[in-house]
Amino acid sequence: MKRIVVLISGNGSNLQAIIDACKLKKINGTLSAVFSNKADAFGLERARVAGIPAHALTASQFADRAAFDRELIQEINAYAPDLVVLAGYMRILSPEFVARYSGRLINIHPSLLPKYPGLNTHRQVLENGDEEHGTSVHFVTDELDGGPVILQAKIPVFEGDDEDEITARVQHQEHAIYPLVVSWFMEGRLEMRGNSAWLDGKELPKQGYAAEE
Ligand code: GAR
Repeated sequence: MKRIVVLISGNGSNLQAIIDACKLKKINGTLSAVFSNKADAFGLERARVAGIPAHALTASQFADRAAFDRELIQEINAYAPDLVVLAGYMRILSPEFVARYSGRLINIHPSLLPKYPGLNTHRQVLENGDEEHGTSVHFVTDELDGGPVILQAKIPVFEGDDEDEITARVQHQEHAIYPLVVSWFMEGRLEMRGNSAWLDGKELPKQGYAAEE
């Protein structure tokens, strides 16, 4: 059985969706461990409840980002993961980390990339009066939120929506698409070649699988 390691920083609702999909055998893989850069992340509790080893590393205990990531790599490698999943992991990765897991490192970002990389995506959508918003699962490369998109989900933005409402709407979609992408990877259907994502031997378009007609 292939092994998955998940990195979180907070609530872990996407982690929960992956835990549930593994339990239901919608993902053909084992969730081997969860790591957080925040000791109080609720996601760690979700992991423990599910019987999954849960670890926290605190940045202030390391000299710099490279040192933190070196330790993280060592601890992750003890689980020999086939796939490393970033699920609300709010810490910039060192180039060494990205290189180490290149092609088997994925992230979920709450915007329709390449729109709104970085932070505060929901607020920017509201401020700009966008009528649609969404979320993207992508392979991680050195470019922040810039790696090849695998799958996106869109949501409408209605007049009068506030940030909480669109966040919830986006997360509802995330809990569906992230486990699906993880299952594709576990089944050996998904890979990164060069700067593209490939599914079932076909190169995916820039917006990922759910391309617009
Ligand atoms: C998710 O909405 C995810 O897209 C976002 O953080 C949230 C984590 O929620 N990720 C980023 O903003 C990464 N740049 P969760 O902890 O409940 O899964």
